[in-house]
Amino acid sequence: MSRVVDPTPDAIEAAAARLRAGHPVAFPTETVYGLGAGTLDAAALEAVYTLKGRPDDNPLIAHVAGAAAARALVTRWDTRCDALVERFWPGPLTLVLPKAAHVPDRATAGLATIAVRAPRHPVAVDLLAAYGAAISAPSANRSGHVSATTARHVADDFADVADLLVLDGGPCAIGLESTVLDLTGATPVVLRPGSVTEEALGRVLGPVRVLRIDTQAASPGTSMRHYAPRTPCVCVETEELVAMLAETAHPVAVLCFDTNAVPSPHRPIAMPQGAGTYAAQLYDALREADRMSVERIVIERPPETNEIWKAIVDRIRRATA
Ligand code: TXA
Ligand code: MG
Repeated sequence: MSRVVDPTPDAIEAAAARLRAGHPVAFPTETVYGLGAGTLDAAALEAVYTLKGRPDDNPLIAHVAGAAAARALVTRWDTRCDALVERFWPGPLTLVLPKAAHVPDRATAGLATIAVRAPRHPVAVDLLAAYGAAISAPSANRSGHVSATTARHVADDFADVADLLVLDGGPCAIGLESTVLDLTGATPVVLRPGSVTEEALGRVLGPVRVLRIDTQAASPGTSMRHYAPRTPCVCVETEELVAMLAETAHPVAVLCFDTNAVPSPHRPIAMPQGAGTYAAQLYDALREADRMSVERIVIERPPETNEIWKAIVDRIRRATA
């Protein structure tokens, strides 16, 4: 059984002690929960891969207290990094840079680059301070499954794991994984869209390239099917929703904007109209739909009227791939 605890100073100290002893710990960030181990502790990182069932070749994000700690893990830090960190850290922006020699291969899946980000959730900040070094953490879900945005989600995914400590920092405010930005080349490349948008990055950096998600990306974690519920999942246009539900005899779960559009026996889950609140609720809604034990999950396609919606639709595409 996982152990979900309130993030009291004692609990944070206990979590840091567990990290020092080489045990993974789950903790909240403003994006999603992470399953962390010391970045320089290769054996503990191995345990994270085993717990998640994560493919060996999928690299991790190193969480740091700030720019100074990030610089210690990389060999190149330029004025673009200073400008980005000034504007977006602590927060949901991950930078990919050439890795320093002392960082173990397990922290980067053998890549010559490392992903670094300073989270802003106070519990993550406190845990980094108590541990006193970088913490590498993938999202705290079983590999391939929907990311965890509450401590309960983590406990559900790792219900069979003896004694995993989960710091409960409440529901994640953002609910979408961080924007991953590759700064190893002359032109910055967004490897994974998130709440720090291309437009916001462009205001700091000038032109930014965005990797199309239907092509296999520079890193394996960006492969198509990901963030997926266990139940088969489809996305349909609003105009097609009513006809489709009328033709479907077996109950399906429907993530929709207007629950009145969903006749019985189908099971509506109301989604918010605003992109920010939609993002914060998406993974919880997918997990709720999974628990309904229906044959299919149907997601009403959101508008792609701004870049947050685009990041949301990116995750929906991966869930339905
Ligand atoms: O918001 C987040 O980023 C959350 C919280 C816990 O910080 N973490 C997260 O981790 O989403 P994970 O492991 O689920 O996703 C990390 C992503 C993957 O797509 C991975 O391929 C990419 O970051 N990544 C990590 N290191 C990389 C590298 N050196 N080069 C390119 N991509 C990298
Ligand atoms: Mg993940």
